[in-house]
This record gives sequence, structure tokens and C-alpha cells, in this order.
Amino acid sequence: MKKLITFSIYTTALVSCLAAAPTFTVDASHPAGKVSPMLYGLMTEEINHSYDGGLYAELIQNRAFLDNAATPVHWSVVNDNDSAATIALDPTNAFNDQLTMSLRLTVTEAAKGHPAGVANSGYWGVPVTPGTSYRASILARADSSFSGPVTVSIVSDDGSTVYATGEISGLTAEWKKFELTLTTGRVDATAKARFVITLDRPGTVWFGLVSLFPPTWDNQSNGFRKDLMQMLVDLNPKFLRFPGGNYVEGNTVETRFDWKKTIGPIEERHGHPSPWGYRSTDGMGLLEFLEWCEDMKAEPVLAVYAGYSLEGVHVNPGADLEPYVQDALNEIEYVTGDTNTTWGARRAQDGHPAPFNLTYVEIGNEDWFDRSGSYDQRFAQFYDAIKAKYPRLKPISTIGNDQPETLRVHSRKPDMTDEHYYRSVDEFIRMSPEYARKYDRSGPEIFVGEWAAYETSFPPWNGRSRNEPPTPDFKSALGDAVFMTAMERNSDLIKMQCYAPLFVNVSPGARQWRPDLIGYDALSAYGSPSYYAIRMFSRNLGDEILDTSSLETPVQGCATRDSKTGEIFLKLVNPQATTEPLKIEINGVAAIAPKAVAIVLAGKLEDSNSITQPRKVIPVTETVRHLKPDFSYTMPPHSIVVLTLKTDL
Ligand code: AHR
Repeated sequence: MKKLITFSIYTTALVSCLAAAPTFTVDASHPAGKVSPMLYGLMTEEINHSYDGGLYAELIQNRAFLDNAATPVHWSVVNDNDSAATIALDPTNAFNDQLTMSLRLTVTEAAKGHPAGVANSGYWGVPVTPGTSYRASILARADSSFSGPVTVSIVSDDGSTVYATGEISGLTAEWKKFELTLTTGRVDATAKARFVITLDRPGTVWFGLVSLFPPTWDNQSNGFRKDLMQMLVDLNPKFLRFPGGNYVEGNTVETRFDWKKTIGPIEERHGHPSPWGYRSTDGMGLLEFLEWCEDMKAEPVLAVYAGYSLEGVHVNPGADLEPYVQDALNEIEYVTGDTNTTWGARRAQDGHPAPFNLTYVEIGNEDWFDRSGSYDQRFAQFYDAIKAKYPRLKPISTIGNDQPETLRVHSRKPDMTDEHYYRSVDEFIRMSPEYARKYDRSGPEIFVGEWAAYETSFPPWNGRSRNEPPTPDFKSALGDAVFMTAMERNSDLIKMQCYAPLFVNVSPGARQWRPDLIGYDALSAYGSPSYYAIRMFSRNLGDEILDTSSLETPVQGCATRDSKTGEIFLKLVNPQATTEPLKIEINGVAAIAPKAVAIVLAGKLEDSNSITQPRKVIPVTETVRHLKPDFSYTMPPHSIVVLTLKTDL
């Protein structure tokens, strides 16, 4: 009797009782559907210091002194026994109406060899690497009796080692921008360092903004951390969903992601409180998001603020909502408009004349939390306005099939709906065989805009998560991989999907959520086992879906084929603790090449990667031999395998 097995990691005993040979069959006689070319992408928002202290390469924390109105957090006085200084926030000497605070440094005692000044501790340290040039820029003014010099350095925490240093002078009573390059020599890499500004004589100096950038991806001036960008590019993402998540909504209407306030020179960005408990510099503004997409050759999936914020407030549909709808239209024009349009011209003025490609616009985020029931009408108002001006664009409803029917949008047919799945590993293993199989193929396209497996007995939002490692272990990767096989099998309908959250700064106090895909501190970064599972899947994908079925095995899998080369990408996940000798049948091909490449990710359930052990769980590549259309392959215990089979079409 044929038996479809759904399997839990804990029920391994079941398999040994089964009589028939475990078999995984691929029907290659005809494609069952087209794989969405945008299937694998990324989701991002400011959470866990994803941008400030993360991808956005700025090294100075609280660079504009706006993080705390009472005290200059992350800044401290530098002096020795023979020098003295004080620092204070000074709102009366602001640089402009955006940078509304300044830091006043008053040096009362200092001399050559005995400087005094101020230090910034960075985002959990300032990363120092050998032979590296850092770009410092400082907005400063001074009292009339002081014009310089001012020494600018990167110094070890204990002050004993100066890694790089430079000088500025010519300060006046007027605000001026000073720029200099600090270059390290042959130093050992460390993040136990600070950024220090000192005077060697008494004087008073005000700072409006202090910025320090290491070399960035593609040398962009307001750019991104190179190591993190490389890890993202390696995932081969086809889209980037931004800026949220909760971050687009804000806790209140006033603290939403207000895109117009995030464009232009950084000294014109005030920043804003994020819903994740810290202030965002907005250095990562709308144009930076778009350039980030461009750098990865990915398409933006733009989430617009839709009149609902996390404290449960909503803007009434109708006249009250109209300004927000107009704001979204302007935002779309900034992204896509040519330079003859108002906002396209503004984008050109900001440094990017060429418009960006855009297909999908998400209307809000998780609007099922709006218990007033206003989303249906709010969605309709955005939908109508966007379709009228941009008929080609596809608005996404944030309420998908994972939510009760009654909450979903009914007044319009969304082009796409967004489903979110934060589920336990066992739940993913249980739900994946049937996931999306019975969805209405003539219904809206599906976006799985946030998903992640968790290995704990409680969900990510439970307070106990705080005591768990920031990134998931290998057990989670198994759950993630199983769910990805389900999404690939249904990728005729599931047009896009992305893990969330993407990033976590693992330094103490930096994170709000686990599990997260990529971890880092000031100096280095690593991918979780889930990162490698996604990388294996996203880089080995055909354009045709092949039907698969399994018999008497807990292994879940999927297959796609490249219609040009005939290569079949077979993905298999063994969630059990024992090996699984599989009979693999590829039906409908004349022949397959006797040799194939297998990429294998396997390990103990509790194995994980970290800053100190970044490559404990990584994929290995093997050659598999003696293949024919019907061959044997033994899945290692707890394993994720991608087999690339060459076929005769
Ligand atoms: O990914 C973390 C959060 O989970 C997102 O901000 C939100 O959309 C979801 O609830």
C-alpha cells in the first residue's frame, strides 16, 4: 500500500518498520509548471541593528547626538592626569533644522603630549584592520579663540595604541565640514578600539555630525559593509523587500518610515525612532535601499506606509488617508519616474538619474493586526490610486492565506498576497507536504514575505528567546529546507519568498529577535546553517517545476529543470537521525550522466555557526557516480542535499 509519510524529527523508529523500499520519484516527462524567476529574495528592515551597526557601514554610533536627549550616549571624555575636558549636549548651537543637537567639547587643560577630548565607542567597537583607509567627516565650529589643530584618531580602548591618525585645522565660529583619511599600517585586526578627537590646548569646539566610514562595497560614499554585501550577493537574490516589516509601520503614524525624510545628504536627515527600541539615523534611506538592490542585481519590492501603526492606530480610509496615498504615489515616482517628473528629478539630484525597475508594491505590513477592520478599505484606496497611475504595478495585500478568510481583502482582488510563517521545525515538517498544493491557481499570486523555522519550544517573540543564540542551529535549517522544497514545488504560484529577519548584530544588547540568518559583530560576519541551506537552494534552480512523489520515506524534496541545459536540480531533505537509502527514479528522460555533483549540508541538530566558529556547519561538494535514470542514493542522517543531474533532453 502506498503511504505518504509526514514525519517528526522525534519519530525515527517508524521508518524501520516499513517494508517497501523508500523511493523518491521525479516526473521529468513534462514540466508541471514554470518556476518563478523571482522566487528567492531577501527581506530587510531596521531590527537587531541591521543597518546602523550592520550593513550601513557608518562606524560612529550616535553620530548626530540625537540618540538620547539627556546625555551624549556612546561618547566619553578623553584625558590624562595633566589634561581636563567636559562634554555636553547643546541644542542651542544646532547645525541646521535636521541636526538639531550638537556636542560641545570644552577643553580646560591640555598641552602637547597631554591632549584632552572626546571618544566614540562605535557600534560595539570600531573595527581596525591592517592597511585600511577610513574616511572621517566632521561638522564642527569653535569659539573665536580656537582654530585648531584638532587631532582625529583611531585608538585602542586602553589608549596605548594609535592605529591611525590625522589632523584638521582652520575651525571658525561658523559651521564647516572637515574631511580626512585615516590609514592604518601593519596592525592586528581588532574591534577593541575607539574613535578619538582631541585638542592639545584649551578651547571649545562644537560638533554637529561626526562620521567615519571604512572602505565600502563598490566604494560608495554612504555605502555598505563589504563582507555583508558579499554574503548577500552570494545568495543570488532576485528581489529585496524593504523597508519592513514593522519598521515601515512605526509604533505611531509620526514614527513610520517617512521616506521623504530619508533622502538627500546625510546632514539633512534627522533620523527617527524605530519600533525595535532604538533610533535610526536614516543613513540607510530610500535611495540607499534602491542602490542596494542595484548592487545585488535584485528588484525592489517596495513596502509603502498604508495608514496603520503598531500601537494599534489607523488612519481612516477616505479623505484622512489621501495624503498617505499621495505620499506612496510620490514614492513610486521617486523610484520609477524619469527625470521629467518631480520626484524622478529629485532622485537625479540625489545622484541617481536612472529610474529603477519596480513591479510589486506592498500596501503596509501584517495589517491583520488592525482589528478595526479598516484594511479592506485602506487597501482599496491605495490599489485604485496605484492602478490608475501605474497600471503595470502589482499591489500586494499584507493579509494572505495564513490568516482567516474574514480578515482578508475582499473589495479588490489583490495581485498578490503576503503570507508569514514563523513555525517550529516540526510544524514545517508536518505542513510542508501539503503546503499550497490546494491553493486556487487563479487566485492572487503568493508572496511568502517572512518565514523562518525555530528550534526552540517557544516562538521567537517569547521573552525566553533572549537567552538563546542569535542565529538558528542546524535543526532549524532542516525545517527551513523542508519548507523551501514546498515553496519550490509550488513556485508557479509562489512568486517570491524570503527568510526573515536577515541580519543580527550579535553584540550584547544589539538584538531584539531570533532566529536571524546572518550574524556579525564590528569585525566579522558568519552565515547560520539556514543561510547555507538557502544559498544551496537559490543558486541551483531551474525554470521548470517537475512533479515529485515519495514512497515510504520521511525525505521531502522537489525538482526543477533548466529548460535550456536539461539539468535537473533535485533537492532532498532527510529530517531523521538515521541514514536513508533512497531509490531515486527520474521518469521521462532518455539518460542521465553517470556522474553528478551533490552539495551536502549535514550535521548534528544542535550544531551551529558563530563568530568564533563561523564554518562549523557548511556545505560540502561531492561527486556521485554510477547514475542512471533509476539509481540509489543514501541520504546522510539529518541532511540537506542538492543533486545536479545532467540529462539527455
Ligand atoms: O521579522 C520580524 C517581524 O516579524 C517583522 O517586523 C514583522 O513583520 C513580523 O511580525
